[in-house]
Amino acid sequence: FNTIDDLELDGKVVLTRVDVNVPVEDGRVTDTTRIDKIVPTVKDIQAKGGIPVLLAHFDRPKGQRVDAMSLRQIVPALEAALGQEVVFAEDCIGGPAKRAVAALKPGQVGLLENTRFHAGEEANDATFAASMAALGGVYINDAFSAAHRAHASTEGLARLLHAGAGRLMEAELKALDAALGDPQRPVMAVVGGAKVSTKLELLTNLVAKVDHLVIGGGMANTFLVAQGVEVGKSLAERDMAETARAILARAEETGCRIHLPKDIVVAREFKAGAESETLPVDQCPADAMILDAGHETVEAITQAMTACKTLIWNGPLGAFEIPPFDEATTAAARAAADLTRAGTLVSVAGGGDTVAALNKAGVSGDFTFISTAGGAFLEWMEGKTLPGVAALEAARH
Ligand code: 3PG
Repeated sequence: FNTIDDLELDGKVVLTRVDVNVPVEDGRVTDTTRIDKIVPTVKDIQAKGGIPVLLAHFDRPKGQRVDAMSLRQIVPALEAALGQEVVFAEDCIGGPAKRAVAALKPGQVGLLENTRFHAGEEANDATFAASMAALGGVYINDAFSAAHRAHASTEGLARLLHAGAGRLMEAELKALDAALGDPQRPVMAVVGGAKVSTKLELLTNLVAKVDHLVIGGGMANTFLVAQGVEVGKSLAERDMAETARAILARAEETGCRIHLPKDIVVAREFKAGAESETLPVDQCPADAMILDAGHETVEAITQAMTACKTLIWNGPLGAFEIPPFDEATTAAARAAADLTRAGTLVSVAGGGDTVAALNKAGVSGDFTFISTAGGAFLEWMEGKTLPGVAALEAARH
């Protein structure tokens, strides 16, 4: 696909799809990561003489204008990140958009109102896409984290204008390719989370692709049940035991080594500072819950990780949001950070919970790459084609 380097931008309005779907509390942005990450794209477009006009969704207004979901509230954070004024237009099509865009001069930046205020966005409606396309001469997609949506601003526009990837999109795709597309082996995947049922496609794809698969979180309990291990009151999907057994059998065939807990941290209550103990995996008391993996498990994961060249991480190993059940996640994350700093491991992580857990462990800065994507990262790990990326690949050159 094209990048900013390949496209003629001088004097052109560059419709730039970004993902600024950031957490907001009382009208203030509480995490600017996604906003900070689009700065290089905006600056590089400007450096080539283009006028960036940002297109984005915010939350899920379902085709209605919802004031609480206006992109206006992110303007101060965007201005702070860019170090310049942002011209906001009340709509992403029609008179307000046309007037705002027409008044922009080289060096300025525009931001159009939430694309999802129009039903045509999610429907990927051709007329709606054409109304946006009419505002600009070139389309840059920098929203990898929204690339799993085949919407007008993420997919349709690439078919109507000269199109290319922004810097963040490029970086995300490069990192993900290094992690799972064409990785240095051995590769370890760490997958955690509550439920096997929501990560079935992910597990099935990974056992065919990676050399080591660490299964953590509530999902691990389902695998333990599948192996006939008693898990007491732990969260587990007993109706998924058969599926879990099929995944284990498939891993045998592909030579993927599965790592399940060897020892477990159990408690009777799920609350901060609850009394807990570490036990061998087959000794969970009937009235207790497994809330984290123990030291022996972390030791085994670290040992296997040390022999790996690539790590891809999605999901915490335990109930990390409540201490002390964050210990296994933190310890394994620190091991990954150390190996990455030592230059022996390429480490890539993604997904909302995962990034929160790595931030909490204080190691996100040491990972090779932290994706800004949640759902898109997961779908990509599942081996799915992301419509936003496919549209860039198919775009005319
Ligand atoms: C995200 O936050 O993961 C993206 O912005 C996509 O949002 P969506 O799940 O509402 O499409």
